[in-house]
Amino acid sequence: MAGDNTVQLEEGSVGQMLSKLSALWKSRAAVNAGMRDYSLLDFNPAKSDFSEELLPFKHHPAWQVASDEMKSKCLSYAWIIYNLKTIYIESNVVTPACEDVIKSPPVGSRNRPALQSVMVESLLDEALHTKMSVDACNYIYAMRGIEYLDFTDFNLVTWRNSLLAGCNAEWERRLTRFGIACASETLITDYLKVMAEDRQIQSICHEVTSTHARDEWSHSSVFSFAAIDILRGLSERERKYFKSVVLKTVEMFANNELGAWQAAFSLIKFPDADAIIHDTGSSNEVGIYMDSVERLIERVGLNAPAVVRSQAFNTSMG
Ligand SMILES: [Fe+2]
Ligand SMILES: [Fe+2]
Repeated sequence: MAGDNTVQLEEGSVGQMLSKLSALWKSRAAVNAGMRDYSLLDFNPAKSDFSEELLPFKHHPAWQVASDEMKSKCLSYAWIIYNLKTIYIESNVVTPACEDVIKSPPVGSRNRPALQSVMVESLLDEALHTKMSVDACNYIYAMRGIEYLDFTDFNLVTWRNSLLAGCNAEWERRLTRFGIACASETLITDYLKVMAEDRQIQSICHEVTSTHARDEWSHSSVFSFAAIDILRGLSERERKYFKSVVLKTVEMFANNELGAWQAAFSLIKFPDADAIIHDTGSSNEVGIYMDSVERLIERVGLNAPAVVRSQAFNTSMG
């Protein structure tokens, strides 16, 4: 299996892969292709702003009998919620983990400069992705003339905060931050996939998502190789903890975020919204994400016994 080969990668090979990813970033990353003005794309009011198949309540009777106007407004808010969550993933989940590695790369690793480079490059990408999401939301707000949705309590973020609050040491907090980010950087490709491939939706929504998805293909490799390097220094207990964080992130990532939907439904006065919220509950499509995270766990060697480096990751954290 490919994962088995990756597990046995020597530090030098990981360093070479990280350098290759840096070289690819220079030629392929959206941030290096010049700022594109997505607002110049044609706006078609008859097109949906979001893929209906991603709605967690798409089969609910109240959704199915709703008017086309109501459905269209809902799909605009689906785009807003999707991008707000994306912005939180970029700024609250991925950015802190990149900063951890940049400011304090793993002690004992021969790949410190390469790790710092790929993490700085990822940070630049995430800043652009945040800009793309903000601009594309504001474009839809302006074109549709809909009210602003203010929502901050995404379950992924509140769960992350509570997990961090329960940590007893800085190394544990740091491992938690990296574990959630590492899983998120693998799962975000799945999160973006449907919208990135749906050419029936509003052009700006498709283009922004597909550009983002292309960058995230590389990020999943960046975080996987960084994880191989970091995990090399961990004890069996720490590796077990890291694996549990990665697995738990799937559930939170796939969360229906019904709090955000409740706020959107009330803005547009959607009929029978309470029934939709009640009946949808926590039923989500975790399965879509599970395969990816299982592959990540295999790829970074978490199913294999620990190979301990002389100076451990955690000891660098005190
Ligand atoms: Fe991103
Ligand atoms: Fe990313």
